[in-house]
Amino acid sequence: MFTEYQHLIDLSDYPVNWWKNVVSLGEEIRNDPARFAHECDGKVMATLFYEPSTRTQMSFQTAMIRLGGKIIGFDNPANSSVSKGETIKDTTKIVSSYADILVIRHPVAGAAKAAALTAECPVINAGDGGHLHPTQTLTDLLTLKIEKKKLSGLTIGMCGDLINGRTVHSLCKALSMFENNKFVFISTPELRMPAYIKDIIKANGSTFEEADTLEEAIGDLDVLYMTRIQQERFASREEYLAQKNTYVLDRKKMQLAKPDMIVMHPLPRVDEITVDVDEDKRAMYFTQAKYGVFVRMALILTMLREKKQFEILKGREYSGVVCDNPRCITNHEHYLPKSFRSSRDETLLECEFCDERKLI
Ligand code: ASP
Ligand code: CP
Repeated sequence: MFTEYQHLIDLSDYPVNWWKNVVSLGEEIRNDPARFAHECDGKVMATLFYEPSTRTQMSFQTAMIRLGGKIIGFDNPANSSVSKGETIKDTTKIVSSYADILVIRHPVAGAAKAAALTAECPVINAGDGGHLHPTQTLTDLLTLKIEKKKLSGLTIGMCGDLINGRTVHSLCKALSMFENNKFVFISTPELRMPAYIKDIIKANGSTFEEADTLEEAIGDLDVLYMTRIQQERFASREEYLAQKNTYVLDRKKMQLAKPDMIVMHPLPRVDEITVDVDEDKRAMYFTQAKYGVFVRMALILTMLREKKQFEILKGREYSGVVCDNPRCITNHEHYLPKSFRSSRDETLLECEFCDERKLI
């Protein structure tokens, strides 16, 4: 199924060159932002944030304002007609008729794709549950390009909540497309990287290892990507408390790292990096957040310039088959097609909204 407009739901919908161009444009904008100050004069961007955000929301808003455009939207659905029971379909239909581009964050996986199905303008996924966060990945790629001068041949450690962290899912999918990148996943057994992401990494020809402690892994890394334990995605407070404080990066552990390793974090930080690490010149997380504005300016420009049809659903519905993931948008907004991609022999189906797999 095709939509009239191009959307950014998942970076994997685009060839690597497309992302590289967005990142390069982000770098150009960083070097001379004034040149782009009127590129979006007269344009309106809507930000629909059904879930809390500081950086993503404000960096998108700053990006549009710095391009000369204007912004509308909500950052608390309780103050919008969502609280009266309005569906994503109807909200998107209306807001996309007011705006030229729509940015959506939602606590449920696949919500941005659901929005794109009815939107009358391009839709950007600003985080859908524990699934994906493609614009954080563009931010991360720009950070690596500027600070490490390369996107390939890197050993990248990812530490913390790898099962629920949408930033690391999107980043693994992207970095595994570049040559000779190696991943080290540092987590407890409960919070390991999902199997489908590991399969994508292998299929893309990259390798990964798993480690239990930061100490055993940190010395080999070029990049350490710390993540917050995603309290809001746990089934119970007890399960969250059992994981909290397992990984804390402090100055002592930083002494075990290479002198040119960089520390990244999508933020917000809770207690997984002690504040004294902020003084270390290898701490890159605040700079990383700053780069988010430039890359989002580049993304807005790219999405508004390119007017192409977009293949949004590539699979099909199977009679009576529904997604088993309770945190998939198809189990919340029931009008949505239960669309699946299938393995060649059609015994394994993958939900097109949240990537959950099921055997039939
Ligand atoms: N801000 C990032 C996200 O929204 C990471 C986090 O919240 O921990 O996914
Ligand atoms: N990195 C990130 O998405 O931050 P926010 O949740 O504050 O938007």
